[in-house]
Amino acid sequence: MTHFLDIHKTSPEDLRGMIDAARAMKDARNGRPRGALDDEQPLAGRMVALIFEKPSTRTRVSFDVGVRQMGGQTMVLSGSDMQLGHGETIADTARVLSRYVDLIMIRTFEEETLLEMAEYASVPVINGLTNRTHPCQIMADILTYEEHRGPIAGKKVVWSGDGNNVCASFLHAAGQFGFDMTFTGPKPLDPEAEWMDFARSKGVKAEIERDPFKAVEGADLVVTDTWVSMHDPESAKERRHNQLRGYQVNKDLMAHAKPDALFMHCLPAHRNDEVTSEIMDGPNSVIFDEAENRLHAQKAVMRWCLGV
Ligand code: CP
Ligand code: NVA
Repeated sequence: MTHFLDIHKTSPEDLRGMIDAARAMKDARNGRPRGALDDEQPLAGRMVALIFEKPSTRTRVSFDVGVRQMGGQTMVLSGSDMQLGHGETIADTARVLSRYVDLIMIRTFEEETLLEMAEYASVPVINGLTNRTHPCQIMADILTYEEHRGPIAGKKVVWSGDGNNVCASFLHAAGQFGFDMTFTGPKPLDPEAEWMDFARSKGVKAEIERDPFKAVEGADLVVTDTWVSMHDPESAKERRHNQLRGYQVNKDLMAHAKPDALFMHCLPAHRNDEVTSEIMDGPNSVIFDEAENRLHAQKAVMRWCLGV
């Protein structure tokens, strides 16, 4: 079964193949209307379940549109409307869904839910975000970087803020695509040591630098994300704002990166918290390209999962 569970669990060759396929599919659409079908219809006759236990705009819409462009059909299911994990076990839900659909994408809380779904499903399962990782986002981000600046291998990426699920998948990508990554943020919000070690085990630099200005020196790409993620308790909010204020991406910080450094954010963003509007809407920002590229990258991920 070819699941897309995480970037560190997928071979560099397969990841590269997906990025190249995404780019080719994007080019092949050649500016046609969003609703137009692709020339190739690799998902014709296929049914895809999109399960959301957390809110989503980009993941929901980009998967849905992507499946339709490739000729397939979708059903969007909200976790709260299902028996997922309360009315029945995840394993039983996985076995049942596998009798109806050809592919499952799930956004959930605990990583264990994703892993149990993958273990018991007899169709491929795609990780649409867990508390721990967000691999589809980073596939789109690699595609975006390379469209603007060429190969990401050997570049320096700086993550400023909370060492969260999106940061984790960036560290996986550092190892698999061969770029260096520096995390800058307060110690309690460091990325998991396991993910730093993964990147290092692949021969790239994965470093922590508490001083954000030092961290971004020589950066080719500066990335941040919301200070409070969907799985974080509401009570964390005020503390996080105090801890992270000094790590805001703004004009002063970007002035220390390379002049042509790109800025990325997976969105949704809290304007003027983790990043200023000036940077989000400025010339180095590629945030809406990232959002668009979710569509193209995930189409390639789905084709890889289904072998079509
Ligand atoms: N970046 C991202 O995954 O956005 P959504 O939460 O809107 O899906
Ligand atoms: N870190 C954020 C990403 C949202 C796409 C969260 O988990 O809420």
